[in-house]
Amino acid sequence: MSKVTVIAHPLVQHKLSIMRQKETSCNHFRDLLTEISRLLAYEVTRNIPLIYCDIETPLAPMKAPFIEGKKIVLVSILRAGNGLLDGMLQLIPSARVGHIGLYRDPDTLEAIKYYFKMPPEIEDKDVIVVDPMLATGNSAIAAIHEIKEMQPKSIRFVCLLAAPEGIEKMQQVHSDVDIYTAAIDEKLNEHGYILPGLGDAGDRIYRTK
Ligand code: URA
Repeated sequence: MSKVTVIAHPLVQHKLSIMRQKETSCNHFRDLLTEISRLLAYEVTRNIPLIYCDIETPLAPMKAPFIEGKKIVLVSILRAGNGLLDGMLQLIPSARVGHIGLYRDPDTLEAIKYYFKMPPEIEDKDVIVVDPMLATGNSAIAAIHEIKEMQPKSIRFVCLLAAPEGIEKMQQVHSDVDIYTAAIDEKLNEHGYILPGLGDAGDRIYRTK
């Protein structure tokens, strides 16, 4: 069974509470999402391997630890995933980036793919899939199915908010994918939105409503 990590750090929780408030402006919402995504990146990369390279400090040579950023692929589930991408890229600037476009059929809530662009040859790479909201889980599950076709070394999933229903479904279908989230909310409403949640993440990032 995959692991679910809730990043309960007070800085993350404080920023998330501001994001939830309906009167928080688009600008502020976006900035906070970028700030939180840096903190999430910190946690999701905690166990990535280090390589040791010879360097020289002003005083002595040493073998210094480095991460192999090029071995990390960040995959954004469009469009709200892009809100998490920038902050994560600030922390892992040499990461490769993929994008997957999926939309939710409003009646069935099923995920339909309309865009797929990934770096080539990812067999030796660790993939981090980002989408702020793990609601029904359908988009994340479908995106991860597509990514698995490319046989990456590992896949992790990062979101801001998760619903228990989405976590359960993800764990049933992709039991090898660990989930990182800032909070697990109460439930989904009848339209597949997370309660209490923060509304539609895409609309709040891009002011489309
Ligand atoms: N997507 C969102 O943007 N918000 C939700 O609550 C659920 C899915």
